Amino acid sequence: MSNTVFGAVIGYGGMGNYHVCKMTEVRGIKVAGVYDIAPAKIELAKSRGLKTYESREALLADPKITFVTVATPNDVHKEIVIAALRAGKHVICEKPVAMDSAELEEMIAVSKECGRIFTVHQNRRWDEDFRTMRKICEDGKIGHVFRIESRVHGSRGIPAGWREEKEHGGGMILDWGVHLIDQMLTMMREAGAKPVSVYCTVTNITNTDCDDGFTALVKFDCGPEWLIEVGTSTFVQMPRWYALGDNGSVVIDDWWCNGKITRIYNWTERTVAPISAGAGLTMTMAPRKSNTIRDYKIRKVKSDWLEYYKNFLAAVKGKAEIIVKPAELQQSMKMIEAMFESAAENKTVYFK
Ligand SMILES: NC(=O)c1ccc[n+]([C@@H]2O[C@H](COP(=O)([O-])OP(=O)(O)OC[C@H]3O[C@@H](n4cnc5c(N)ncnc54)[C@H](O)[C@@H]3O)[C@@H](O)[C@H]2O)c1
Repeated sequence: MSNTVFGAVIGYGGMGNYHVCKMTEVRGIKVAGVYDIAPAKIELAKSRGLKTYESREALLADPKITFVTVATPNDVHKEIVIAALRAGKHVICEKPVAMDSAELEEMIAVSKECGRIFTVHQNRRWDEDFRTMRKICEDGKIGHVFRIESRVHGSRGIPAGWREEKEHGGGMILDWGVHLIDQMLTMMREAGAKPVSVYCTVTNITNTDCDDGFTALVKFDCGPEWLIEVGTSTFVQMPRWYALGDNGSVVIDDWWCNGKITRIYNWTERTVAPISAGAGLTMTMAPRKSNTIRDYKIRKVKSDWLEYYKNFLAAVKGKAEIIVKPAELQQSMKMIEAMFESAAENKTVYFK
């Protein structure tokens, strides 16, 4: 019997095409075909030599297909995921997995009822910048970490289409925010910390129907506080990561891990002469002498995104536990709901 597992993609847009391309790179997975609601996308898929299905039902009825990847706009994830699970398929769903936590609860219940694997494409757990920051913090390179800032900045507003329409799950909290939230919660879960509260503000610079950016301050019961931010009207970008510890600081400028760690080297400099700063003097903000600190290059942690599909394949074959668990995403959905509430009512929202 062949060991090959056949997968299909529903929603053949930008991300659907990405999944088709990536799946073919994984030994042991083959693409059975795709389905899209738009005839033009079906034609495009055909022109690329892919098998296409005339309906979602026809795709789900194909016994050759073991799993389905759902890459449609966010508001139809629930309906398609549930249909696929009920058809006996394992499911990978694009992020954000659902519009809210109630939808996700339903999806999790159906996956349990059907005994199928259901996971979410939180691919940015494999981002090298994230893994590098996580390792620097875990290894104690900057001592006790008391603040982490994670930002993604662009200047093009929200791309036109469903992403700027609330009813389809548009807006930056659901789009990019869900990645930053997942990275934050993953790192803090590993450290045994639970979120306590969030305060969030949103921007509506280019869009009024949904948020085109946000800033959220999240406190945990132990460990650092986090600032997460997405901006789409930021013509000068802030660093991707910035973290402070009691022994040093780290800045990671971009996805390629340019940046530096600055660590205290010598604590003996106790007295400092005031410097002239702006229209006054300061001792507090006087720069350190170069013999008391050292700069270190960032050592990038290598990561391969294909590990996502490899883990999924191993889980389908019963040889591994799935890494991205829907229950973890429930924590993200609750965080998102709290962020919307905080922004709407201008208040800090506490988690029970
Ligand atoms: N993980 C990531 O890094 C990442 C990156 C981009 C997008 N995404 C996610 O992927 C999903 C798709 O985003 P995209 O950028 O590919 O959007 P897109 O607009 O390029 O593609 C969506 C496709 O879904 C099709 N579609 C809509 N409703 C459908 C239905 N009911 N049945 C079948 N097909 C349907 C559309 O015709 C379109 O071709 C979204 O959930 C998005 O958030 C994830």
